[in-house]
Amino acid sequence: MKKINAVITGVGAYLPDYILTNEELSTMVDTSDEWIMTRVGIKERRILKGEGKGASDMGAEAVKELLKKTGTKPEEVDLLICTTVTPDHMFPGTSAIICDKVGIKNIQSFDMNAACSGFLFGLDTATKYVQSGSHKKVVVVSAEKMSSITDYTDRTTCVLFGDAATAIMLEPTEEEIGIQDTILRTNGIGRHHLVMKAGGSVKPASHESVDANEHTVYQEGQAVFKHAVSNMADVAVEIMDKNNLTSEDVKWLVPHQANLRIIDATARRMGVSKDQVMINIEKYGNTTSATIPLCLWEWEKDLKKGDNIVLAAFGAGFTWGAIYLKWGYDSK
Ligand code: UT7
Repeated sequence: MKKINAVITGVGAYLPDYILTNEELSTMVDTSDEWIMTRVGIKERRILKGEGKGASDMGAEAVKELLKKTGTKPEEVDLLICTTVTPDHMFPGTSAIICDKVGIKNIQSFDMNAACSGFLFGLDTATKYVQSGSHKKVVVVSAEKMSSITDYTDRTTCVLFGDAATAIMLEPTEEEIGIQDTILRTNGIGRHHLVMKAGGSVKPASHESVDANEHTVYQEGQAVFKHAVSNMADVAVEIMDKNNLTSEDVKWLVPHQANLRIIDATARRMGVSKDQVMINIEKYGNTTSATIPLCLWEWEKDLKKGDNIVLAAFGAGFTWGAIYLKWGYDSK
């Protein structure tokens, strides 16, 4: 029997209309366009406005676009995985809500949380389902309403994050394309450096937790930065070495978009030039697990079947990793 490979066959996305600029942030906290551009590389980010709107509303729109682009009927999807750190609720899963909003019924679906590395962990899980032969049309949705857990009085975090959702379709193929190799890592020593302290089982919501502002992102920026730079670059080089890829073999590096300086360091270590790197942090900021597929969505028209692509991410936990894939189609 021939080996079954898993290949991405389409990408969808949803970006909210509202644009939060550095200029507007400068009226809210003591910051400046100059500081944000030099230290992080973000100009603006999208924010989902509207009472009662959550990650699932954006995720459902991304899935609808994906189904339209790939000519897929909702009843043909047989697994949906949602990666998010901002689920609509603690339970039920945002995946179930997205299925309902899109008209997908009676399939297997679940949420995954690997923070900013969520897309890589979700894609790897989806790959295993496809390679096993058990599922044929698997959707990985990455839906993040970071504005719902961002403290807009804290200048050290509020300039970093944006809202977005993406969706990719993964399908089986016998061709030598698709996901080639994966390296994923977790080290819980990082759990205190980047965390939402309350609202979970260890510290349920209370008047005290709200007063102490513990329902928003807490980040020790420098500690996270140090680990992100070394781990993301190390794992990207490791996956190149393991697959005998030179920097010329790599058509695209698609890095998690947390900080332009982390992206540059990873590209330098891999020996790839700027024009081999997908970078859109300037327009959307850090959208957590949606950053990598948002790049694929934006660059989709430039991608060619067989292109060697390295995805690399680092996030809370700590979690990090890299995936090497061969792109599956020329843009239509
Ligand atoms: O995506 C998941 C993983 N997350 C990451 O990878 C993020 C990793 N960390 C980072 O990207 C960076 O650490 C930050 C962008 C978060 C911060 O940049 P930094 O160069 O590490 O700045 P810092 O925290 O060392 O702060 C330097 C100075 C401080 O002032 P003092 O103490 O030197 O007077 C901060 O208070 O910059 C100040 N500062 C700001 N100034 C203007 C911090 N945030 C701001 C701001 N505007 N928004």
